[in-house]
Amino acid sequence: MTSDELRALMSQMTLEEKVGQLVQLDGGCFGGGDLATGPAAKIGVTQDDIDRAGSVLNVLGADQVREMQDRYLSRSRLRVPLLFMADVIYGYQTCYPSPIGIGCTWDPDAIRAGYTLVAEEAAADGCMVTFSPAVDLVRDARWGRVVEMPGGEDPYLGARFAAAMVEGFQDGLGEGRGVASCVKHFAGYGAVEGGREYNTVDMSERRFRQDYLPPYKAAVDAGARMVMTSFNTVDEVPATANKWLMDDVLRGEWGFEGSIITDYAAILELINHGVAADERQAAKLAIDATVDIDMKTNCYAANLADLVRAGEVSEAAVDAACWRVLTLKNELGLFENPYYQADALRAAEITCNEERLASVRAVADNALVLLKNDGVLPLDSGEDAPRIALIGPYADSKDIVGMWAIHANRAYSHTVREAFSEELGEDGFGCAKGCPVLDEAGMATLGEFAAYLAKGAPVDPRTPEELEAEALAMAAEADVVVLCLGEHQLQSGEAGARTDLTLPHQQVELLRRVHELGKRTVVVLFNGRPLVLEDVLPLADAVVEAWWPGTAGGNAIADVLFGRVNPSGRLTMTFPVSSAQAPLYYGQFATGRLAGKNHTGRFVTGYLDAPIDGRFPFGYGLSYHTAELTDFALSGDVVTADAPIEASVTLTNTGDVAGSEVVQLYLRDLVGSVVRPVKELKGFCKVALEAGESRRVSFTIDEELLRFWRRDMTFGSEPGDFVAMVGLNSRDVLELPFSLR
Ligand code: GLC
Repeated sequence: MTSDELRALMSQMTLEEKVGQLVQLDGGCFGGGDLATGPAAKIGVTQDDIDRAGSVLNVLGADQVREMQDRYLSRSRLRVPLLFMADVIYGYQTCYPSPIGIGCTWDPDAIRAGYTLVAEEAAADGCMVTFSPAVDLVRDARWGRVVEMPGGEDPYLGARFAAAMVEGFQDGLGEGRGVASCVKHFAGYGAVEGGREYNTVDMSERRFRQDYLPPYKAAVDAGARMVMTSFNTVDEVPATANKWLMDDVLRGEWGFEGSIITDYAAILELINHGVAADERQAAKLAIDATVDIDMKTNCYAANLADLVRAGEVSEAAVDAACWRVLTLKNELGLFENPYYQADALRAAEITCNEERLASVRAVADNALVLLKNDGVLPLDSGEDAPRIALIGPYADSKDIVGMWAIHANRAYSHTVREAFSEELGEDGFGCAKGCPVLDEAGMATLGEFAAYLAKGAPVDPRTPEELEAEALAMAAEADVVVLCLGEHQLQSGEAGARTDLTLPHQQVELLRRVHELGKRTVVVLFNGRPLVLEDVLPLADAVVEAWWPGTAGGNAIADVLFGRVNPSGRLTMTFPVSSAQAPLYYGQFATGRLAGKNHTGRFVTGYLDAPIDGRFPFGYGLSYHTAELTDFALSGDVVTADAPIEASVTLTNTGDVAGSEVVQLYLRDLVGSVVRPVKELKGFCKVALEAGESRRVSFTIDEELLRFWRRDMTFGSEPGDFVAMVGLNSRDVLELPFSLR
């Protein structure tokens, strides 16, 4: 439809029909179910509201989408199609590792291609918009949603992944391919105080703009068609009612012309926040902030038309919001084809196909981070293979795709045991659960949602003592014990905040008992955040961080443990020594008393009972090869606005196997009009080398790289002295000075 035709269509719409485009409802509302007791009653919408709604949440399945669209259009006066939106966060039925793992690949190009495959798989089942990527900067591992964030604690890395993910999802958008990407959660959700879910966010505008906004801006600059508001406040105004954030910054400064959708029922929550006395005021605040779509409440449906008639909201505001929604529907071609790419035959053909399984495996291979290895890895799987006992609650679990893989086809999840069977033969190793993920008390902390998820899952009738006895007996017969340990999937993700970041105690006890047997131990971790591993590291000869490794998780773990893949994952978040160190990140300010500078002994920044650094730093990871950086040089020691300099360094694989390294460039502004971080990631390059091979790696340092939010809140650079650093992690770096003139 042309823009003029779309305008003509909108001009025929009644005020209620235009408001309807701004309403997103639960799929259950469209099933013709009982309005008095079903989802419609829960939300408080009428049949008219349903017949005028603009979009639906998390309904997928080619046939189901087609049927629902037909049913809806048969009741729609102007036949404006529904928009089907879903949480296809890091995979549809075939899932990549959780984004915290994807980030550890430091390979945005790989995930751009991967997310195009995700979009194709989801679109064949009717998806038109995905609520992804989530790109909230996070520096507090207590917050459960760290698991969803590819950039971890770093704005630059987050921005690179944000752009790649949006481009991947939207490849071919407008040409009948791709899905529209909705970047979230705008903005600053990852800075909740105390790491406590849904808590207050409060920081200076400078830090907000310097650190927290860049990943969202990168997504918008990459063309994201939609932005989702976050639950938190920004400068004491909830994001969903924050006109400065949504209209001045997002639309005004960044030129965003797409739709803004609230997070789940976030308009209604304005009342809980205490900025709206009732739903009517909540609706007014949100539309005034240029928020277009009300997810899962009836605030807009029940109040917007009245607010316009009462002259409290302009019809122009409703028209602008409605126009943005109609424009997206038109870009997807829904007026010509209301089913978009929904095609059951196509879905059957490509869902979880070999191409996708290979892609998620390749990403998972590179997402694993080798945290410790005293030489026990890689394991031999030939005739000299050691006798291996594979034990732990994740040794044979299909629950390895993470909390937000809500559409994952778990039948395709490859468990570690299955992968070991392919490697060693069904009888080539022993496998035992050893203990549950959580004991009863631990499960109780997860609430009824965990019980709901566990419904129908087989219950192991054995007592904890019987489970442990079986595992220890198996371990006693083995040369090497591989323990697959981890958090419960619901101990991270939304509403998964924790104050104690250690492994469940009974799992550590199992590890301790295995260690007491004097066996070589390899621990594989399944978790959604940096953990405190102080009681694990002394008991393990090797530790592999697998995160939630996704559909091919078992394969990837076997690939790395048996040396088919040389691990190249590098951390995107600092692993703490204690959860009390949070927030913890490499790019901290020097403060007036950074340890080692000017002050000695007691009176320096720090704690009496813990270091200020983490156990494993940002950018860290081991491999089966060793590597070194040498001959770090700058092509000059002065940067000007017209003349950048080149930083170059030689990377050598000093090991005896091929492998990859991530060469990282950090910069430091020694004196600024405001304090500046001791280092900031400003470039990286993943390099694959043969054993013994060297490669010169270069980065361009230009004036733009040195810009920041200055004392007067303008964004720009300041002449002065800087330090360039290169490293294979953020801690161990080579340094050289340069200046900006
Ligand atoms: C949830 C999450 C958001 C998700 C939305 C729709 O509360 O915060 O990430 O996309 O609701 O399911």
